[in-house]
Amino acid sequence: MTVTGLLLLTFIGCTISVSCAPTPTSANSKRHEFPDDFIFGAASSAYQYEGAWDEDGKGPSIWDTFTAKYPGISLSLSTHIRTHMNVIKCTHIDACVRVCVCICRESERWKDGGECLPWLQDGRASSSELNAAGVKYYKNLINELLSNGLKPFATIFFWDLPQALENDEGFLNETIVDEFVGYANICFAMFGDRVKHWITINEPWSYSVFGYAYGTFPPNRCSKGRNRLTGAFSSTARFSRYLVNSDCEVGDSGTEPYRVAHHLILAHSAAVQLYREKYRADHGGQIGISLNTEWMITYDETSEKDQEAADRALAFMYGWYMEPLKSGTYPSQMVTHVEDRLPKFTEEQSQLVKGSFEFIGLNYYTGAYAADIPCSNNGTKNHSYLRYSCVRLTKVKNGIPIGNETGSGWLYVYPQGIRDTLIYTKLWYNDPVVYITENGKHE
Ligand SMILES: *[C@@H]1O[C@H](CO)[C@@H](O)[C@H](O)[C@H]1NC(C)=O
Ligand SMILES: *[C@@H]1O[C@H](CO)[C@@H](O)[C@H](O)[C@H]1NC(C)=O
Ligand SMILES: *[C@@H]1O[C@H](CO)[C@@H](O)[C@H](O)[C@H]1NC(C)=O
Ligand SMILES: *[C@@H]1O[C@H](CO)[C@@H](O)[C@H](O)[C@H]1NC(C)=O
Repeated sequence: MTVTGLLLLTFIGCTISVSCAPTPTSANSKRHEFPDDFIFGAASSAYQYEGAWDEDGKGPSIWDTFTAKYPGISLSLSTHIRTHMNVIKCTHIDACVRVCVCICRESERWKDGGECLPWLQDGRASSSELNAAGVKYYKNLINELLSNGLKPFATIFFWDLPQALENDEGFLNETIVDEFVGYANICFAMFGDRVKHWITINEPWSYSVFGYAYGTFPPNRCSKGRNRLTGAFSSTARFSRYLVNSDCEVGDSGTEPYRVAHHLILAHSAAVQLYREKYRADHGGQIGISLNTEWMITYDETSEKDQEAADRALAFMYGWYMEPLKSGTYPSQMVTHVEDRLPKFTEEQSQLVKGSFEFIGLNYYTGAYAADIPCSNNGTKNHSYLRYSCVRLTKVKNGIPIGNETGSGWLYVYPQGIRDTLIYTKLWYNDPVVYITENGKHE
């Protein structure tokens, strides 16, 4: 397996990540400990760095709507800041990764820039005019990266859906697939001569589960009163302080996450097909998707049921996306447990999805213990993605945390998990090329 690293701390938005030529990494790690083709990088997301959320003709995204509705929520960086990102000149720093991107809020440099999403005034590729300022902003950014010897990895969609599309049901609506392809087409046409690594979507799991099962991320949908969790997913604690939606006004945690995931997968694969058919010959780049997972560890090694639970937990988080990419179908555990709430790929869709990547971006932060629990959803109307796996995930066993604590309650340092995830990916998913597109810990 080729594992190339892009070491990042990132969160949301349409993103540019950059990777540098090999250089030594830190006082503790030496360059020669990594393969020659291992590359180091840094990344951010549009919502974290673009700023200027209401300037230059930019329309609102669902994250603008969300942060306006819940002003207490600050996702640290860019919420409604009015400034632009700056890319500093890369200086060679022998002892560490060349840190390539810095956010200089007061910089004048990009003042004539604009926004990425939407570059389209009402968010629609089919009917909008291109926002010239937005395109210019990204052309400048990409050129600046290239002239500093950095390779841009561009993410097409990092959760900040134009609100106009959300008003038409966003990723619940299958027409989003065409909208996404139209948007991807613009990205390829405008930047594909210089961007050679494309990531279609970042963390579809987070988009579907936080947006539609927990309801804690925009568009904040979930079954009324049912999103409060019983530990079915350890990431619950992850954003508990953002649990703004304990009574979702609208949504269905038992079906919508699956529909949204289905359309995310179809949108991804349709964009890949477009790239391959229309741009690959001229641009010669690669395209993939970034998936996040936690590594699942059997709670009680002696329990066969817990072993199956760990497999199931992985299927519900990682396999949900990886298995279709490998085989064109959802994992068998999901088919069994989610039953007819899980959409099906048509034969044609299945062929399109299967193999629709040149690389997998892996976002890894932590591991969790998985224990089998009775399927409480079965036979009741108490349906939720968060219960169908019939797994209890926990970070603590017999009073001992799985790893050192960090600045976030959900993130315990569990470095073995990235190795185990990579080995599992190699063995189970036919040894794909992997870029580690996120990894790290919160201080
Ligand atoms: C789905 O999107 C189409 C156009 O993109 C729109 O005409 C239709 O009303 C949307 N459906 C719903 C239920 O919002
Ligand atoms: C749910 O219950 C039905 C019978 O009531 C059973 O056939 C099915 O296998 C159960 N599903 C799960 C996931 O346990
Ligand atoms: C639904 O699930 C929650 C959490 O698991 C549980 O407390 C509640 O009793 C369940 N309700 C029904 C009707 O099964
Ligand atoms: C956990 O913290 C201890 C004490 O600071 C340190 O020695 C150890 O290396 C840490 N473990 C990991 C996996 O980071």
